[in-house]
Amino acid sequence: MKILIIYGTSEGQTRKIARFMEDILQDENHKVVIADATEEPPKPDDFDVALIGSSIHMHKYQSSIYEYVLQNKDILNKKPSAFFSVCLAVASDIDEEHKEANAIAEKFLKQTGWQAREINHIAGAIKYTKYDYFRRLIMRMIAKKQGGNTNTSKDHEYTNWDAVKYFVLDFVSKIEKY
Ligand SMILES: Cc1cc2nc3c(=O)[nH]c(=O)nc-3n(C[C@H](O)[C@H](O)[C@H](O)COP(=O)(O)O)c2cc1C
Repeated sequence: MKILIIYGTSEGQTRKIARFMEDILQDENHKVVIADATEEPPKPDDFDVALIGSSIHMHKYQSSIYEYVLQNKDILNKKPSAFFSVCLAVASDIDEEHKEANAIAEKFLKQTGWQAREINHIAGAIKYTKYDYFRRLIMRMIAKKQGGNTNTSKDHEYTNWDAVKYFVLDFVSKIEKY
């Protein structure tokens, strides 16, 4: 199948996840095109499947992903598509944090009118060593609230790669069977 992966990222974790998905799907002999939503991404017209992902910053998805989905929702709604949402809240043991991440994703789909067949929530990373002073401060506050790691001398990755692999293979195999 021809599969399009579009991602929106600030610090690169969503790009890393999108590239991991690309590798997995290529190993299964799919033809994959991957693009950053800020870099003139291709339209979904010529693809069988679209996977679109964005990280959450300050309770919002990347504006490039909002724009991409708004511009392409009519085509997206005519073919199988899935949304992968990357944030820190889903790495938390606190139930409220998960509810908040779900609500942000639901609101995004409602606002854009995109009828994604599946939403997959993926835990991202804390990259203290890459942040400027203010981002480090904000992220430490978020980590404290969510029960994440507050040791700012290191980066911390929470992405469950096996779960990401399961999600893409399962989503595509369901389409193939359909
Ligand atoms: C300034 C800042 C704000 C963030 N805001 C949120 C947030 O509101 N909710 C959340 O769950 N995670 C939040 N995060 C965590 C990011 O979603 C996480 O670091 C993710 O891996 C970033 O992905 P990216 O590198 O693809 O942008 C924030 C991170 C930063 C640096």
